[in-house]
Amino acid sequence: APAGDLRQPPEAIAVQVALAAPAADPLAFDAGRYTTQQVSAGGQSVTVRAWEGVPYVSRPAQSDYQVMNIYIPEAYFNGGQVGRYDAKTAPIFLPNQIGGYMPAKPGTPAARGMDGGARSDAPNAIAMALVKGYVVASPGARGRTQASGKAPAAIVDLKAAVRWLRHNDSRMPGDTDKIISNGTSAGGALSALLGASGNHDDYAAALKEAGAAEERDHIFAVSAYCPITNLEHADAAYEWQFRGIDDYKKIDISMLDYKVQRKTVAGTLNAEQKAVSAALASAFAPYLNSLGLRNAYGRLLTLDAEGQGTFRRYLAALVTASAQKALNEGQNLSSFGWLQIKDGEVTGLDFERYLRHLGRMKTPPAFDALDLSSGENQLFGDARHDKRHFTAYSAEHAPEGQALRADKATVRQMNAMSYAGWAGSWTARYWRIRQGSKDSDTSLAIPAILALTLQNRSYVVDFALSWERPHGGDYDLDELFAWMDAIDP
Ligand code: DHB
Repeated sequence: APAGDLRQPPEAIAVQVALAAPAADPLAFDAGRYTTQQVSAGGQSVTVRAWEGVPYVSRPAQSDYQVMNIYIPEAYFNGGQVGRYDAKTAPIFLPNQIGGYMPAKPGTPAARGMDGGARSDAPNAIAMALVKGYVVASPGARGRTQASGKAPAAIVDLKAAVRWLRHNDSRMPGDTDKIISNGTSAGGALSALLGASGNHDDYAAALKEAGAAEERDHIFAVSAYCPITNLEHADAAYEWQFRGIDDYKKIDISMLDYKVQRKTVAGTLNAEQKAVSAALASAFAPYLNSLGLRNAYGRLLTLDAEGQGTFRRYLAALVTASAQKALNEGQNLSSFGWLQIKDGEVTGLDFERYLRHLGRMKTPPAFDALDLSSGENQLFGDARHDKRHFTAYSAEHAPEGQALRADKATVRQMNAMSYAGWAGSWTARYWRIRQGSKDSDTSLAIPAILALTLQNRSYVVDFALSWERPHGGDYDLDELFAWMDAIDP
């Protein structure tokens, strides 16, 4: 009926008017409001359109963090091509800048690259992606020091950013079937979690509350550097690896963020800490064995009560392979006394001595600190309690009055292992995981378990240790982009 039909009550007319003029979509991409930037990397240059600080939710709790930066090669608005791509085929590179589970602003092509502190002229992954013709969307996210940034806020934000991209697929260049996430450390863990948990119901309520677009949030591929994931089992994994290595070089929790210049304080475990180490270490083999992981040849990877076994030998083989690659690339490894090298071949490795070379960084429990002093304790706080436990062991062994524990559902929501290949999630098909062989922020077992779990469930996984790399990421962009080319030939 026409709006002026007098046979209808006035309420019905009002409803019709509302339908005829719907409120503007707050999540629609406003393509007209951009700046133009010239971006250079790897000796190449490209002109891009930039949209910075674009809100990806309609009800932000932190409107300066729940935003993303979008960069698109100018050529895609004129029917042109950049590298191997055009407006229809360009994959969307989705790097987050999260470190230390802290709040993170979106990345830019101008900021200095993240290289674990080794070089100040490291290439910037966003700039590199743009000169190669990728569309780049870098989401900010809430973090643990914000009341609204407790778990699972950061992953809710990354998912909302993915949904925003799908919501606006028809309004912008780039292929939302080819979203490739990238992150380092806490950001690596979140990159992995984003890839593992696509479209899972566990996040539906939080996404709705934030005002995320009603879209799917699965992605195509994951790049993760040194993911600080599987926090429920990371304490046991750490002590399994470092038990008996009592000297440590600790990093202040305010400097956990891999991008910050990190100051170390040396110390030695006391008797009480050694007892905690032993208790946690003994919990690792039962956990590892429960996973039923297999290597690429189908061999079961297990550990005995002493913590020895095929899983440990598998990790030793990863270190050996990493050394062999460095050797093949012409590095001189003669100073590493725990490696045996003959005629250009790494023929042996003393894993115990390698672990001493690697060195302990954290005191037990490495993640769920008994006195609630870790960054992860703050991650699992809530609106009323800034810091809480997230494991049974630490809640049970906490000092009086510090036994509060996060609910299991929230802890589960932060762990890629809860979703990787499980029913209910659309797990990304392609994975590239790198861990520095000189990184002791978490046990080598943690990225290895994630990689093996995915591989055993038929996902396509490229996992390796990067020789002598400390905690950091984006240090091998040529290889990262070669992998991205290979998964989208
Ligand atoms: C990071 C480092 C850590 O050691 C940790 O426990 C959590 C996060 C980081 O660099 O992001």
